[in-house]
Amino acid sequence: MKTREQITVNRVAGALGAEVGGVDLAELSDAAVEEVRAAFLEHQVLFFREQNLTRDQHKAFGRRFGKLHIHPFEQQLKHEGHPEIIVFKSDEHKPFVAGVWHTDATFLADPPISSILRCIVAPEFGGDTMWASMYAAYDALSDRMQRMLSDLVAIHDTGRAFGVAAYRKEDISGENGLRMVSAEHPVVRTHPETGRKALYVNFHFTSSIKGMHADESAALLQFLFRHLQSPDFSCRFRWRAGSVAMWDNRCTQHRAVGDNLTAPRHLERVAILADT
Ligand SMILES: [Fe+2]
Repeated sequence: MKTREQITVNRVAGALGAEVGGVDLAELSDAAVEEVRAAFLEHQVLFFREQNLTRDQHKAFGRRFGKLHIHPFEQQLKHEGHPEIIVFKSDEHKPFVAGVWHTDATFLADPPISSILRCIVAPEFGGDTMWASMYAAYDALSDRMQRMLSDLVAIHDTGRAFGVAAYRKEDISGENGLRMVSAEHPVVRTHPETGRKALYVNFHFTSSIKGMHADESAALLQFLFRHLQSPDFSCRFRWRAGSVAMWDNRCTQHRAVGDNLTAPRHLERVAILADT
């Protein structure tokens, strides 16, 4: 048990996740920011309740941890002065949640290291979000499998998620200006701050493993995608208006649960870039 003076931290599951109390994210002291940062590195995803942040306060909280990322395609609030905020809004007219396991924007060479999602409207039930620890998923593999994966590199692209597989990066623009974007990342990633190894492939964006035949790559990825979905590696969060989740994209994946798609649900996200 670590001594913390500013915040309380209570774990919510065995693999990852902790609820943080005793803080107002709109007015964090430098000491509290350091404690939140330490808890974030330890627990991989943090949850905060009853934070009624404005959009500016949401962005200001994110900026305590680094520069904010601007998504290449999704900037719904660009004309309102918030290009950094992505809106996830669904209801009976737009029944949708991000219901596929993924890590945010891994089709970029430098994806955001952290994402911070706040809830403005929550369904009465359902629409939870789940996170999975890619440390735990990696640790559960056999030594042999860990060794085999250790020097593999995977291709991540926007083809499956955004449906623009036909376009190459330097090629013509697709509908709505979308185009194929891709990046390469190691299949096993060493976290730069904790030094721990994490599995780093995800169903939404990882399309193949470099240097393998297509059927070998597909079989290995299918195994890994199934492996990382084990409930043993996961935690689950029930949203309420005012809830905030902050997670580490370097060692986790997440997905929403599509069990009440027609209920009004409104969340907004900012993401943080590595300071390079
Ligand atoms: Fe996401």
